[in-house]
Parts: sequence; structure tokens; C-alpha cells
Amino acid sequence: MGVGIIGTGHYAPDNIVTNKDLEKIVDTTDEWIRTRTGIEERRIAKDDENSSDMAFIAAEIAIADAGISAEEIDLILVATVTPDTPFPSVACMIQDRLGATNAAAMDVGAACAGFMYALITGQQFIEAKAYKKVLIVGVDKLSKITDWTDRNTCVLLGDGAGAAVLSEVSEGKGILSFELGSNGAGGKDLYQDEKGHLIMNGREVFKFAVRQMPESSVNVIEKAGLSKEDVDYLVPHQANIRIMEAARQRLGIAEDKMAKTIQHFGNNSSASIPIALSESIQKGKIKDGDVIVLVGFGGGLTWGAVALRW
Ligand code: ACO
Repeated sequence: MGVGIIGTGHYAPDNIVTNKDLEKIVDTTDEWIRTRTGIEERRIAKDDENSSDMAFIAAEIAIADAGISAEEIDLILVATVTPDTPFPSVACMIQDRLGATNAAAMDVGAACAGFMYALITGQQFIEAKAYKKVLIVGVDKLSKITDWTDRNTCVLLGDGAGAAVLSEVSEGKGILSFELGSNGAGGKDLYQDEKGHLIMNGREVFKFAVRQMPESSVNVIEKAGLSKEDVDYLVPHQANIRIMEAARQRLGIAEDKMAKTIQHFGNNSSASIPIALSESIQKGKIKDGDVIVLVGFGGGLTWGAVALRW
């Protein structure tokens, strides 16, 4: 038996904020943002649209895509650093709205690597035969913790949600290997301050990410007993196109074999990997039997990678 993803979904708010719009509020240019990050625009939620609202929509789509009912879900794991409230958790909020009456529910906090942590936590429950169906959601409303006067961070971030349903799949398919890691000493480079704002030392985070993403991608491939040539598709955390490119080039795969949503969505933190995965499936970029690498990093510092066979 394997453990794999049987349904995906994603959602982003309608409201588009372009780089030109940001030129009006901070000292930046469209050209700077595009060339340094790859971002052209991002989606920003309205004041009354919260993480639980976005998570609910993405989850509903993923459940329908998996062809299961909400009552079949045994566990809901929501990766987020921007819950509506610390408690109740977003997971409990959507448990109620989905009608997932048989599910346990909790939020997982590992910043932008949160979806990877939630995915592997869910996998463990299924492998241990404790649960059969686990709903994993990555959601963030980063706009509510963004300092809109700080050009170092406000140009990077966006809001959205992505979801996946995990289940038993046939032997040889699903998750083949994983790597999760943390380095709390680097926590000072990316954190939320007492005012509630996201603070980042961009250069230090860049240095860490540009080393960690390629390294973790290769590690999971080797752990799975595969070689780089076996990789069909890469779904990296969408933080900066230059960091994503470092991972792609290290795996030696073609440009069109890497999921790229950053130009339209910016960095959605916990939601970025599941949004990129869901969109890639929608576009028909992932075929049955493909070997895929998901890889992310985030505040903590944290990181995570997974090799899986679709
Ligand atoms: N517009 C114009 N200039 C800017 C902007 C901006 N929006 N932001 C920064 N600059 C300036 C800086 O102030 C700096 O000026 P200085 O040299 O006078 O100090 C100059 O541009 C160059 O700064 P660098 O840090 O060298 O720029 P770099 O090319 O490294 O790009 C960036 C900066 C995009 C932030 C990059 O370091 C990066 O991507 N870091 C990683 C960010 C990341 O991945 N964060 C993920 C976590 S976010 C989360 O967890 C939700």
C-alpha cells in the first residue's frame, strides 16, 4: 500500500494588486519586483474574507475532486501562520462548515513549509492504519500581517489557499520519501514582531533557501532510490523565481517541468505549494505515474521536501 494525493483544489481572492499599484504606496518599481522576484501581481483578500473562508473553498474543491464525502474525512490538518484566531483553529472552523462530522482537526504551524509538515503528518496516520482519509489545507492571509510601508516585504506576499486529500493508493504510488528539517537559530531572520508584522532579513533568507531547496530536492530523490533523471515535475515553494530556478537547475529539469504561479500570486506562504500543485494538475502538466518533487522552506526556519509518484 502507498499513501498519496487523490484530490486537489485551490482558491485565491478576486482582488488583483499589480506591481504598478504598489509603486503608489512604497518606493519601488514594477521592473525591480519582476527582475528580483518574478512577481507581477498578487491576490489580496477583502477585510471580511478570512483564512477559514479561503481554506473552506479550496477544501470543498479538493473533496469533490477526490470523489469522497466530507463525512469520510478522519483528520483535517490546516497549515497556516495567519489563522482567523489562535483558537478555535481554522481546521475546526472548516470541519464544521464542510460537515466533516467524523474528523479530528488541528492547525499546523511551520510557516511556508507548513503544507509539507501537514502532508507528512497526515501520511503517518494513514500508514499507521489509524485513519483512511486526511484533508490537508495550506492557507494564509499574509496581507493581514504585512507592513504595507515596508518595501522589503510587502511586494512579495499574497493571500490564498490550496488543499489536498490524502488516502491509501496502490503500491508503488504516492509518497516515496520525505525530508523535514528545522533550524531555530535562523528564526531571527523571518518572524512576526510585537506589532504583528512579518519581518524578514531578505538576504539571509535568500542564502538559506537557495542552498536548502536544491539540497532537499536531491535528498528526497536519493532517499527514494531514484536519480535526478527520473524526476518529471517540480513543485517548489513560490517565494522568489531565482530560488525556484536554483532547485530546478540542480535537478536538471526543463523550465516547463516546474510549477510556476509566483507571477500571478506572489508568495502565499503555506498555500503556495498546494496552489501550484492544484493548478499544475488543472493544466494537465502532471500525468499518471510521474515522479514529482514538492519542496518548500519557511520561517522557523523550517524546510520540507517530498518525492512522490502520481
Ligand atoms: N523595491 C526597490 N528596492 C528594494 C525593494 C523594493 N521592493 N526591496 C528592497 N529593495 C532594495 C534594498 O533596500 C536594497 O537596497 P540597499 O542596497 O540600498 O540596501 C536593494 O534593493 C537590494 O537588496 P537585496 O537584498 O540585495 O536584493 P535582492 O536581490 O536580494 O532581493 C529579495 C531582495 C527579493 C527580498 C530577496 O532577498 C529574497 O527573495 N529573499 C528571500 C525572501 C523569501 O524567500 N522569503 C520567504 C519567506 S516570506 C514568508 O515566509 C511568508
